[in-house]
Amino acid sequence: MNSSDMYREIILDYWKNPRNKGIINNPTSSFKDSNPSCGDIIQVDLKINNNKIEDIKFSGDGCIISQASASMLTEFIKNKTIDEAKNISRDDILMMLGIELSGIRLKCALLCFKVFKYALYSYLGKSMEDEVYDN
Ligand code: FES
Repeated sequence: MNSSDMYREIILDYWKNPRNKGIINNPTSSFKDSNPSCGDIIQVDLKINNNKIEDIKFSGDGCIISQASASMLTEFIKNKTIDEAKNISRDDILMMLGIELSGIRLKCALLCFKVFKYALYSYLGKSMEDEVYDN
């Protein structure tokens, strides 16, 4: 088995046995968006406590690449601090997937990443707003 086959096996496993799929009741932050090229949707829910992402779940539908990357990304993010989570880049998720992607497939791979960043930054924006108006 060459390395590209190995990555394909790993992607299939994350797709067939999704990690962190579901919703969080009363999430600290949540965001939903779709892939404009196909209309598939992903929602990400975050539970943030003590500056840490205690829980993260994703829901929605999409192709194998979008679901597998969401599964991998949520596993990678869980228990990271806010600062660590802010520093996660698109290269991290592309490295986890480990296969060459371009065009529509690249958008599939990055959908959950984009939604996660929106959820995180909307939490940070809200926290900043609370700080400004509470003082
Ligand atoms: Fe829709 Fe991949 S084809 S997310």
